[in-house]
Amino acid sequence: MRHFTEVKDLGNLHQALQEALEIKKERFKYVELGRNKTLLMVFFNSSLRTRLSTQKAAMNLGMNVIVLDINQGAWKLETERGVVMDGDKSEHLLEAIPVMGCYCDIIGIRSFAQLENREDDYQEKILNQFIQYSGRPVFSMEAATGHPLQSFADWITIEENKSVERPKVVLTWAPHPKALPQAVPNSFVQWMVAVGYEVVITHPRGYELDEKFTAGARIEYDQMKAMQGAHFVYAKNWSAASLEHYGQVLSMERSWTVSRRQMDVTDNAFFMHCLPVRRNMIVTDEVIEGPRSLVIPEAANREISATVVIKKILEGLE
Ligand code: CP
Repeated sequence: MRHFTEVKDLGNLHQALQEALEIKKERFKYVELGRNKTLLMVFFNSSLRTRLSTQKAAMNLGMNVIVLDINQGAWKLETERGVVMDGDKSEHLLEAIPVMGCYCDIIGIRSFAQLENREDDYQEKILNQFIQYSGRPVFSMEAATGHPLQSFADWITIEENKSVERPKVVLTWAPHPKALPQAVPNSFVQWMVAVGYEVVITHPRGYELDEKFTAGARIEYDQMKAMQGAHFVYAKNWSAASLEHYGQVLSMERSWTVSRRQMDVTDNAFFMHCLPVRRNMIVTDEVIEGPRSLVIPEAANREISATVVIKKILEGLE
């Protein structure tokens, strides 16, 4: 594998899952694979889980790791071509990227949506510029429209907990005070459809996700109907995704907060969220602390998904 930005890059999914389960039993099995290789993790945005789990994954594989927080200590970067750089930005991304490529073998990028212009975000400019100009394999640590390392970890978690072969997985919109991007729901739906689950998306009208990601899933605008018979409930806000009002909060409808009311009509579903989560906005204390909450196992599996992805990239290095 050269780059990892979405589910199809992983190739044979069944094989990837088996590798994940094998690595989970023996995390240092491939510790020689990354010897004298360096991972550069570049963060344009904040992170807790991705930062720690990806670094741990690289250490599992014997790699050296450099972490660069672009907004803390690096030169302020210009990202648009053709700009007269007479402001506060000292360096252009087009020089910075190949320079970063000189010091490492693999690059991980976290670069969220700007939420100002939908087309710009959907072009994934920063991620694609790293792919084009770094000369290195690049993987997404959450970009503007996708968070595949999270979805891979979510899939592992579902496989470890499911009681039926083809579970019903419900992705529900939930309220949040800020406009959040669509990276996690996009990747989650795309991944869950790819592995053959029954996928239902529920949200207030106006928050439709891009069909590029939702093909194969069913949309049900009545949240309580959607929840009936669910085996897994995945909550997320994606208020910024509105086609007409991109980047704005349209609704803070608290009746969509996942509580005992919704969970009671499921088939004793597990609750999932990628974290960080705003309690009593997205989900009640009772549900997230309850015995069917999988939020911590999901986070733990981020180490596993990242180990598999970096291993496959290392295996593809020339
Ligand atoms: N789920 C996730 O990516 O968490 P962080 O934003 O803390 O990395």
